[in-house]
Amino acid sequence: MSSPRPRPGILEIVPYVGGKSAVGGSAPVAKLSSNESPLGPSPRAMEAYRKLVVDLHRYPDGGSAQLRHAIARRQNLDPELIVCGAGSDELISLLVRAYAGPGDEVLYSRHGFLMYPLAALSAGAVPVTAPELGLRADVDALLSKVTSRTRLVFLANPNNPTGSYLTGAELQRLREGLPTDVILAVDAAYAEYAEAEDYDSGLDLARSSPNTVMLRTFSKLYGLAALRLGWLTAAPGMVDVLNRVRGPFNVSLPAQAAGVAALADEAHAEAARVHNRTWLPWVSRELATLGLHVHPSLGNFVLVEFPKGAGRDAAAANAYLEAEGVIPRQMGAYGLPDCLRISIGLEPENRRLVAALAGFMTHRPHS
Ligand SMILES: Cc1ncc(COP(=O)(O)O)c(C=O)c1O
Repeated sequence: MSSPRPRPGILEIVPYVGGKSAVGGSAPVAKLSSNESPLGPSPRAMEAYRKLVVDLHRYPDGGSAQLRHAIARRQNLDPELIVCGAGSDELISLLVRAYAGPGDEVLYSRHGFLMYPLAALSAGAVPVTAPELGLRADVDALLSKVTSRTRLVFLANPNNPTGSYLTGAELQRLREGLPTDVILAVDAAYAEYAEAEDYDSGLDLARSSPNTVMLRTFSKLYGLAALRLGWLTAAPGMVDVLNRVRGPFNVSLPAQAAGVAALADEAHAEAARVHNRTWLPWVSRELATLGLHVHPSLGNFVLVEFPKGAGRDAAAANAYLEAEGVIPRQMGAYGLPDCLRISIGLEPENRRLVAALAGFMTHRPHS
């Protein structure tokens, strides 16, 4: 008997595979595969979560009002122009579902975040990629791929997995070059880490244009990945559309409460930023000293390129690291088979990573 047939596009989806969290053996591992915050959640967020166990029979506030107000105060935004979601993943899917259908095109750069093509395919839309220049999104290449079917352009800024970013001026140029009926979705999941002077999260563009949206997450700097919490801001028309398509209770009660508490703990957020400011350059430098090509990153991870062949390629490095209890992320699904993406961990994890890769680069490969 054959299974029922899904809509066209669905069977082209290769399910997203998250970072591994365990390898064989019982020794503690350094999980550097999912760009999580090594410092974990704020103690205040944990306390807010704990307090809620007696309320688990209650539906959450369907409008996430308290959380939207807390975000609005922090970002100087209108709370009515914020939509919260079960991770920014959900918001990416909602955007595509609301604005693109069969035959429509969803454009992103070649090594952009994988959720964009997955969301496009599940809406029956066609994912289209534009080439990058040196693993960095290229405004002209993106603009040259726009057709009358293009509905959305997704840009992760900074991008996962490359770590590269577009400047505010480039973002502006991209917006100005796109037709007004094409939505620009700036996915600023790592904005809280991004410290370059010319970096721009897209917040002002989203505030000032009718067709630009900026997405954010609590999964990275705020360390709440398990709770699934993200948000976006856009013009009133888009917010209205998204509020129609989202589930009525799409953000759980614990996620809302922990989000509010996390935002109130600026000291914890700052500690996470300082940690990254210290260890991102350290890991980058140490790995470069080993002769590896480390791409500059504005996030909480680095993309590391390995030499081809001779037992020192990325696949061999991945196996070696896993045997040492360090878990990076393989990048074949992103079209970067020579690279591993490695998240910044706690100090001992970073040191363990560097020691393991030093061992890898100097050991005699099996032939
Ligand atoms: C660029 C980018 N956007 C969105 C997400 C999804 O985040 P969330 O956990 O909020 O769904 C990630 C997670 O890795 C990401 O790297």
